[in-house]
This record gives sequence, structure tokens and C-alpha cells, in this order.
Amino acid sequence: MCGIVAYIGSRDAVPLLVGGLQRLEYRGYDSAGVAVVGRNGELRVRKAKGRVGQCLADLPARFKGSPGIGHTRWATHGEPSDANAHPHVAGTVAVVHNGIIENADELRAKLAADGAVFASETDSEVLAHLIARAQADELEEAVRQALQEVVGTYGIAVVDAARPDRIVLARNGSPVVLGIGEREMFAASDVAALAGHARQVVHLDDGELAVLEPGGFRTFTLEKRATTKLPSEVGLDEESYERGEHRHFMIKEIREQPAAVARALTGRLDTRFHTAHLGGLNLDPREARAVRRVKIIGCGSAYYAGQIGAQLIEELTRIPADAEPASEFRYRNPVVSPDTLYVAVSQSGETYDTLTAVQELQRKGGRVLGLVNVVGSAIARQCDGGIYLHAGPEQSVASTKAYTSMTVAFALLALYLGRIRDLSPDAGRRIANGLKALPGQIERILAQEDRIKEVAGALAEYRSAFFVGRVRGYPVAREGAQKLKEISYIHAEAYPGSELKHGPLALICPERPTVAIVPDDELLAKNLTTLGEIRARHGRILAVAHTAPGPALADDVILVPKNEPELDPILLSVPLQLLAYHAALALGHDIDKPRNLAKSVTVE
Ligand code: G6P
Repeated sequence: MCGIVAYIGSRDAVPLLVGGLQRLEYRGYDSAGVAVVGRNGELRVRKAKGRVGQCLADLPARFKGSPGIGHTRWATHGEPSDANAHPHVAGTVAVVHNGIIENADELRAKLAADGAVFASETDSEVLAHLIARAQADELEEAVRQALQEVVGTYGIAVVDAARPDRIVLARNGSPVVLGIGEREMFAASDVAALAGHARQVVHLDDGELAVLEPGGFRTFTLEKRATTKLPSEVGLDEESYERGEHRHFMIKEIREQPAAVARALTGRLDTRFHTAHLGGLNLDPREARAVRRVKIIGCGSAYYAGQIGAQLIEELTRIPADAEPASEFRYRNPVVSPDTLYVAVSQSGETYDTLTAVQELQRKGGRVLGLVNVVGSAIARQCDGGIYLHAGPEQSVASTKAYTSMTVAFALLALYLGRIRDLSPDAGRRIANGLKALPGQIERILAQEDRIKEVAGALAEYRSAFFVGRVRGYPVAREGAQKLKEISYIHAEAYPGSELKHGPLALICPERPTVAIVPDDELLAKNLTTLGEIRARHGRILAVAHTAPGPALADDVILVPKNEPELDPILLSVPLQLLAYHAALALGHDIDKPRNLAKSVTVE
């Protein structure tokens, strides 16, 4: 999704902007551009369709300056093209914008009637014209006035060649983070772009503007009220944002899972009382005991992790729990009840559907916990408490380590809620020991990469596949199908094994293989029957199992170490990530940037 970077200071902004934009490439985009104010006060703009490296490669030597702003665009209004790329310029003003201006058509008509000439089809360009036409001495006042006219979401950065001593930023629904340097200031839509430049960051809130000058920053609201912001230290380790020796970020992140899971568990297992210690929940035991339902919301892989979380919570606490896509939840006027605990799950902490669902819940009195990876992100700040995943930066569009860490965080939450209710100390110990075993067991799955690669090569020959699993295995199947779809573009559909005979069995044939999740649990016999049903229709089967079902029932098997039954879904998901990765690799796809997808969807 769109990315913003900005710089003001004594250095030339261009290489810093280009470097920052390259850090944001993982979010997905179709065009890029920069604008800087040159030494003689002239505005220099370069923007084009394509990759950052291409469109900003051959800038002339005189293309230098500060302040500067840069952008990667993901088309919403108007096709990907040079003209629609940001920055957009009106007079001496240049603007980059993330989000959607809903009343753009109306504003465009008004501005055009007033003589404004538009160079693009974008909603964003109206912002440049509104700012350029505002009657104000200061740039921040011009931006503030322009924003009063606008309905919609935005994260913006604005420079004015006539007022080159500052950059103005504003946020409403699209993230903006300020980075504090030594006599220089940075800003971006994502901390990834600030890595290596700033140790301290400040997150803008919705309805806030910021003025950056080389020596510092000020923030205030749309109503002109000054706000106080406390900078936070962020472990912006540059290396964690680099691909290193790995071919793709996705495989790097898959391989980082043992360490990520170990981090998610660090300091959180209480060996004395066999429970979890979760400092950020902001929920005292009495309140936690009063919870009668748990409702989990998230999008994409976060939603599937939420389904695993709901199972874990029901099994360990006997509190009814379910998960729903946040994107659906927010549109159906949900019933919000005070004795329900709501949990929002998000890697980025910026997914617009999830954030607005949280806001809607809170408006109706719901208490929301956040399971979030990015520290200080909008959802993390919006929630009433929560659990940080500590998975480290995740850059591949297809979520792997963050997904796994989400499931681990749910297991911790379920253990905690269980132990203050009916879960026995013995059962608590069993789960805590199971959790401790996860990093080593994930290592053992990763050690089978060569074998999984072979199986994936065979899967890549098909155009369509089924994924089946029962109860605990069903969300695993859904996430497995999602991974395969996202990066290999092979059509994949997940079904509960029990539902196969109620419809999809009609499609079983030699041309459509099935990936079956077959844990050694109380449903093993049922799962084996399902395999038999598929084999009887000459369907090929790849079983992801604890014990090989035998050649009569499966053509291929990937064996996964056994943990406790409740925790098995966490491990069963890992080989499916490798399966999707190697299938996509065999097909030669752009794995870290799959077509049509973005890392975090910060628009409606
Ligand atoms: C996008 C990504 C998915 C991701 C989902 C939720 O759709 O392509 O991979 O699972 O957003 O993202 P979040 O950051 O909220 O976990």
C-alpha cells in the first residue's frame, strides 16, 4: 500500500528519500516519486510508473535539495501512470498522500471552476490545489485550512518551495511517524523507512498535524490546539529490515520463526503457577473472570490466526469464543456487550478495517485487547490493552512469522484466562511445557525444507487444490490455502473435512490434489475416513500429519512433530508456508510482492 517518506536537514534529501522508499517497497506499489526544494528555491519533481529503482535511477546531478518528500503509490483513483504518481504539484506546493479523499470529485469541480488545472486523475491532487490556494501566511495554516474542506482518510506530507524551512504532515486514518535525528528530521508512513536514521519516533494521532524543521517538530490538532508528544525509543535495527543471504523476505521470515516464537514467550511463562504473565492486558483478574464471551476480529492471515485463537480459548477456558473478519464485522452493526472481551489481531496495527472495527466497538462500550506486532501502531494505541507479538519486522506481503506469533500470543492469553478459571495446574503445566517446546519443533520442520520443496514442485503442476482439516485443523487448512493463493496464484479452497461430502466431493478428481491436515488427535479416525473418500475418487493427497497415514491413503506426507493437541495447529501451519513458498518459487513468481496485494491495507 502507499508509502510516504520525508526529510528536512542539511543533507541532500534525494538519496535518503530513495533509500526510505526502497524500505517501503515491501508494502506493494505501482509507481513512485520524489519532490525536493533545490538550493535556489526551485521545486524539483520526478515521478513515474514502475519500481523506485527504475523511476528514480537516472536523476541528474543537479536534482538535489532539502526539504524533500517521496511516495510509493498503490492505485485507487486513476490507473498506475506517470501523471497519477505522487507528488502532486500546484504552484510551489508539492503533496504526497496516502488514503482516500471521498469528496474529491466535488472539490475538483469547484477548484476547476475557479481556474485550477489538473494534471492527474487522482483524488490526492485536490489537496495540492487546496493548499496552494489557501489564504495563509504559514504553510501549516494553509494545510490546516485545506484539510477542513476534505472528507476522507489521509496521511500527507507537504513541502512548499516558497517556504522551504519546513515540512507539514497530517494524519487521519493513514499512519504518519516522525523520526528524530541530529539537527535533522524524518517522517514516514512506516517505521521501516526510518531504520538507521532515527532512534526516537513519534506517532501522529488522527486529526493531528506536525511541522518539521531541522531542529525539531511541533504538533497540533485540526482545531489549532497544540499537542504534547512523547518520543519513544524504537529498536530500529537496520539489519532486521535487510534480506541478508535469503532469497526473499518470505523465506527469511519463515526461518526466523523459532526466534520469533521464543521472543513472544520470553518472560511470559510463569513456572510457579503454570500460567502466563501478560503485563499489558490492563485487565485485572476480577474483570477477566467476568468475561462471558470472546470475540476476535482481524483480516486475512490475522483472521485465520484468530480462528485458531478462538479454538484455544474455548478449549482452555470453556468461554465461548469465535473469530470474524474485521472487514465484515464493522459493516453489520454488531451487538456489543459489556461482558464480551474483544480481541483485535493485526501484524501492522494499521489495517483500516480492523482499526475502524475497534473504534466502533469502543464507541459502543466494548473493551478491546490488541494482539499487534508493530509497537506504537494505530491499533496498538487504540486498544485498551494487549499483547505485543515481538515477531520483529515482517516485510513479505504473505504473513508467516507474525501469523505464528499471533497464534502463540493467543495460546498465552488462553492459558492466562484458563488458569484464573477452571484450568487445573497440571493442565496449565502441560500447555506451558508445550509452548516451550515450540521453537525447537519449528526448527525440526524447517530442517525438512528440501523435502517440502520437492512436494511443492509437484503441487505447482496443478491449477487448483483443496485444503481440508477438521476442527483444530480447519483454520490451518484455511491459512494454508490462503498462502498458496497469495503467492503461487494456484486456486486453493479450504473446507472442513466433514463438509467435503456435502458438496466439494463433486470436484475431487486426479487433476485436483488435496492437502489434508491430519493431526494425531481424537479426530484421527474421522480424518482417515475423509482421505479414503478422496482416494476412492482418484484424488491425489498430500497429508500434513503426525504419523504417516500409509500409501493407501496418501501419495505424499510431510511429518510434523507432535505437541499438545491444543497447540498442534501452530506447528501444522509451518510446513504449509514452505509449501506455498516453494510452489511459487517453482512457478517463478515475485514472492515478496504478489500481484494485486499490499502488505497493509490502510484504506477501506
Ligand atoms: C493484507 C495482507 C495480508 C494480511 C492482512 C492483515 O491483506 O495482504 O497478508 O494478513 O492484510 O494485515 P494485518 O497487518 O492487520 O495483520
